[in-house]
Amino acid sequence: MKELNFNINYIRFDNVGELNAQDRELCEQSVKALDSSYSPYSKFKVGTAIRLDSDQIILGSNQENVAYPSGLCAERVALFSVGVSHPNAKVTSMAITAKTELFEITKPVTSCGGCLQVMAEVEQRQGSEIEVLFYCLGGEILKVKGIQSLLPFVFVEDRLVEGS
Ligand code: THU
Repeated sequence: MKELNFNINYIRFDNVGELNAQDRELCEQSVKALDSSYSPYSKFKVGTAIRLDSDQIILGSNQENVAYPSGLCAERVALFSVGVSHPNAKVTSMAITAKTELFEITKPVTSCGGCLQVMAEVEQRQGSEIEVLFYCLGGEILKVKGIQSLLPFVFVEDRLVEGS
């Protein structure tokens, strides 16, 4: 028997003023993405802004449905949109923010496991890591480089091959 552990590095910023200009812009764009959120059921808006290697920014937001599981998170809406409109582009970074009229959000909202799994596959396809910024609107930001740090036991394609 052996006890093992993962070491996860991330950076915490107190506010957007501490970010570099590119990351600040991406956080601001994730706030803009909240406007297109369709979330009448949860009333919980999530916005995502993705920066491509061309520096172009693509937005996404959560889209809900009366048949609840038929909706989709902001991160996946944005990533799948990139897959359609920019299939050969690389995702360099993405920012995620959330807002609700029901209560004050005081900590960055981190992505669900399903979205992390999709981010992990984007990394694998493009052969490079994604920087992820979780932005608490008007407050702190957590910055993580690489999905391995968010989903250490990620399910990857080679697990479908015998002997891996
Ligand atoms: N949601 C996201 O957009 N991203 C996540 O990573 C977690 C949750 C959405 C789904 C649903 O529309 C609302 O937030 C409440 O769960």
